[in-house]
Amino acid sequence: MARLRSSPAVAAFAALSSLASLASATKYSVHVGKGGQLKFDPETLTAQVGDEITYQFFARNHSVTQSSFAEPCKPQSGGFFSGFTPSPSADVTAPTTFTITVNDTNPIWIYCGQTNGDHCQNGMIHAINAPAEGNTFDKYKSNAASAQKPSISPPDGLPVGGLRKLHIDVGFDGNLVFNPSNVTELVGTLVEFGFNQANHYVVQSSFDDPCHPLKDGFSAPFVPTQQSPSGVTFEVEVTDTKPVWFYCAQTAKTHCQSGMVGSINAPPSGDKTYDAFKQLATNASPSTIQPEQPNVGTLKINGTAINYINGVVLNVTAALGPNMAEYIPPPGYEYSPYMVGMAGGAQPANYDWGPSVSDEAVEFLQALQYVDNFILSVLSHGYSKLSEGEWKNANTVGEWLQTSLTAITLSIGVVIDVLSLVTDKDHWMVPALATALGAKSRMTAVINMMQGHLAATAPREVLIPYQLAWSYISNKYVQAGSCSDEFGKSYPAMNITNKVMQPGSGRTDRITVGIPAGSSGKHYMAWVGPWGTLKYSDVTSEGATTVPEELSGHAWAVLTTETGLKAHDIEKAAATGPEMVWVADPWA
Ligand SMILES: *[C@@H]1O[C@H](CO)[C@@H](O)[C@H](O)[C@H]1NC(C)=O
Ligand SMILES: *[C@@H]1O[C@H](CO)[C@@H](O)[C@H](O)[C@H]1NC(C)=O
Ligand SMILES: *[C@@H]1O[C@H](CO)[C@@H](O)[C@H](O)[C@H]1NC(C)=O
Ligand SMILES: *[C@@H]1O[C@H](CO)[C@@H](O)[C@H](O)[C@H]1NC(C)=O
Ligand SMILES: *[C@@H]1O[C@H](CO)[C@@H](O)[C@H](O)[C@H]1NC(C)=O
Ligand SMILES: *[C@@H]1O[C@H](CO)[C@@H](O)[C@H](O)[C@H]1NC(C)=O
Repeated sequence: MARLRSSPAVAAFAALSSLASLASATKYSVHVGKGGQLKFDPETLTAQVGDEITYQFFARNHSVTQSSFAEPCKPQSGGFFSGFTPSPSADVTAPTTFTITVNDTNPIWIYCGQTNGDHCQNGMIHAINAPAEGNTFDKYKSNAASAQKPSISPPDGLPVGGLRKLHIDVGFDGNLVFNPSNVTELVGTLVEFGFNQANHYVVQSSFDDPCHPLKDGFSAPFVPTQQSPSGVTFEVEVTDTKPVWFYCAQTAKTHCQSGMVGSINAPPSGDKTYDAFKQLATNASPSTIQPEQPNVGTLKINGTAINYINGVVLNVTAALGPNMAEYIPPPGYEYSPYMVGMAGGAQPANYDWGPSVSDEAVEFLQALQYVDNFILSVLSHGYSKLSEGEWKNANTVGEWLQTSLTAITLSIGVVIDVLSLVTDKDHWMVPALATALGAKSRMTAVINMMQGHLAATAPREVLIPYQLAWSYISNKYVQAGSCSDEFGKSYPAMNITNKVMQPGSGRTDRITVGIPAGSSGKHYMAWVGPWGTLKYSDVTSEGATTVPEELSGHAWAVLTTETGLKAHDIEKAAATGPEMVWVADPWA
């Protein structure tokens, strides 16, 4: 086999990583009305696709509204709108911000829609990617100066097309307070509670029963931290205009009874004001929380949604030391029993490294790394799209799940191929590869369930010759020319032109595939299924073949010119690359 001169894995990753471009987005911030001026600062910005722009509001009551170039001071149909954001201070940014994501490099024209003082006509406008010639920012400004008064804003007044976020400090300045504690907010706003030094909770209650959880209300767990800000946040959305009441459930120093309570959209007068709630809390019985947290909202550490277990946020720094990024624990490293328990087992006592590694094993590992980089690209691509909300209600999610499943099953196939190849010279690799296999099988089971299939029907433990896996990925997903053919030749993709399903059970009976030009003689279909299943079926000269009855779930098929080969050797007689086929539910 050819020796590797450079790692194709790295090249492939570079080619694929453009998928995940959002990960490297630049974040800008723009001041809206700072110092009491009717101005955006900066007035213009040049931004790339994927960049995020956050608008910070100052005194008066401004908005960030998208218009067309020709008609400033008037919302563009389908454009974004921050909602009005009153703020008391000319110099301190309001706790509410509005963030947009740049989707393309077309110019974006923006104004403040406040009619009291005609902000737009008086030059409170802003542009992203305004051209230097033609429709320039200066022309937009003069259009605005002569625009009809009063300015117009979206009639429902609610934020759209971006993220309106209210930040509330939990334990502000070391005191037992929420800051701000009494806010008016628009429906559609994301409320972010940021935890500061001490041990606080945030729990929703009713007005009448402060310091005790509201059934089905939101609740963040206890967040012990020495840092201010800690980077730990809890997010909930304002979904209607009803008042929302909350408290800190820490019983040491009776936080709730001492006034650590808050409200969103409390009535300004009457008998259910913020002040009345705070007063009621002073006499409340000892604070309680519900058993399940977090409830309703999302807990994050520095922007990443996290799991949290039994009231304790997983403290990775405490568990693994300060330099997580470069840190690989050595054999014998003493993990905390807590981490070991959560990981579901004990640490490896000894990796039992071999005295040397064979050249073949190096190539196998590189093939595995190539496939795993593909998985990483697919997952991070989906993660960015989903977390940005771009795939809300999109069919793309189904396609992405299928691609993720394909990638992981290819990797499982390659791990098994490699496992069987290394037993001879490099048997010390077996335990580590077996561990990877188990983890990947569980991943496919989870994806099956997300697709509405049975969890057990992934093609678990199939063997796919790594050369075929490489061919599959490079054919379908890698930019042409960005990778050399280090792992062998590239087989033509298998094209399934017809699928005959049994009515009722939905089982696939027959498929027809394209026979590549130049591949002559008799053809067979090699079917690689779970638990070492390997079946061959005859293929007619038209490319039609019967799906073996023993198969279920997803199976991998490869068109071959020989029958009866061992799984390893399919590659030697392959006429096409592999393709995954949904055969049927095993219990259907
Ligand atoms: C802010 O301005 C908007 C639009 O003029 C208005 O509807 C809203 O009542 C104002 N809010 C405050 C607190 O002044
Ligand atoms: C980007 O696209 C999203 C989804 O279509 C949209 O809501 C948002 O307003 C767009 N951003 C800009 C700056 O136009
Ligand atoms: C969040 O990031 C900051 C800055 O890097 C760091 O100091 C802090 O410890 C992080 N928070 C947590 C909970 O890891
Ligand atoms: C609470 O907020 C409302 C609405 O902004 C305001 O009218 C009221 O005076 C505030 N109450 C307190 C005690 O700050
Ligand atoms: C996590 O543990 C480290 C080391 O024990 C400690 O310094 C840090 O403050 C802890 N972080 C949090 C969020 O509690
Ligand atoms: C399948 O279709 C692709 C794209 O049309 C083509 O490049 C490939 O050669 C076809 N494979 C076979 C086996 O005909």
